[in-house]
Amino acid sequence: MQHVEASAPEGDTVASWYEKATVRYTQRILIPERSSGELLYPTARSIVCDHPLVASRGSTVQSYILAQAAYQFLYGVGLLETKFVIDCSLNILHNHIKGVGDVDKLQALTVIIDEGYHAYVALDYIVQMKQKIGVEPLLVPESNWKLDAAARASASLPESMRMDFQLLAVTLAENVLTAEIASLGKEKEIARSFARVMGDHVLDEGRHSKYFAKLLKSSWARLPRETQETFRAMVPGYLDDFLGVDLNRAFERKVLAAQGFSAEEIDRIVDDTQERFVAEHQDAREKTKVRLVALLKQVGVLGLSDSIARQ
Ligand SMILES: [Fe+2]
Ligand SMILES: [Fe+2]
Repeated sequence: MQHVEASAPEGDTVASWYEKATVRYTQRILIPERSSGELLYPTARSIVCDHPLVASRGSTVQSYILAQAAYQFLYGVGLLETKFVIDCSLNILHNHIKGVGDVDKLQALTVIIDEGYHAYVALDYIVQMKQKIGVEPLLVPESNWKLDAAARASASLPESMRMDFQLLAVTLAENVLTAEIASLGKEKEIARSFARVMGDHVLDEGRHSKYFAKLLKSSWARLPRETQETFRAMVPGYLDDFLGVDLNRAFERKVLAAQGFSAEEIDRIVDDTQERFVAEHQDAREKTKVRLVALLKQVGVLGLSDSIARQ
């Protein structure tokens, strides 16, 4: 009987996972007792905190607003991982996304493990926050803007294209998530424990981003021309929708109302900060679009001369 030597998986992805995956060696991240008085989430990420009407109410109100922003961010990360990235990885594993070999399926399993762990860390952090700062989340979301945008785009497609679209959408989402957690982890005012959650997460996301981009590149070449053209045509609109935000700022209004601000005060706080809110959002969106267009060109989804950054 012929002895077959197991060859190293392409690119040593599995060896790299054993060596580097944070789930394999990371200790539980604990929020220290509140005595430090440290804010868990940076004020730069919640512009209403600087408004005179909010600042005049003192640090307890500001901490509450920041805690709610942190909860939304952490819940959002968990939702994206468990409802979108893990789902896509399972579809790869179960051949609903076609043409993926066993070595790449092996890596899909590492993504499922990593993402399950990231969602676990995020929820563990939420549970600790509730215990240690005594603030309950105002809202436990079941979806968010990005997931809704992906669902809208998927629903607009014929059933036969949805799985391939999911791979495209997850490749983009992983890239965006990686950049978001990297940038949040670098904020100056952030709690050390929160920065560690972000820092560990980024270590894994770099591998995931490369994996999905590589998979998208090889699967793109196999897609029927009709599917390629449909996806190409929908990319500009999809990026705008996916990278959008709620310009009415319903959640911030809800948080302010929970702190006893009147409807008039809330309108004033939101109106006074709206220009900065819109400008910061547009700036971030345009930068992200430039990066995603470069990624889509690199994997062949867009042609080298395509430009959609200003649409
Ligand atoms: Fe993750
Ligand atoms: Fe990931």
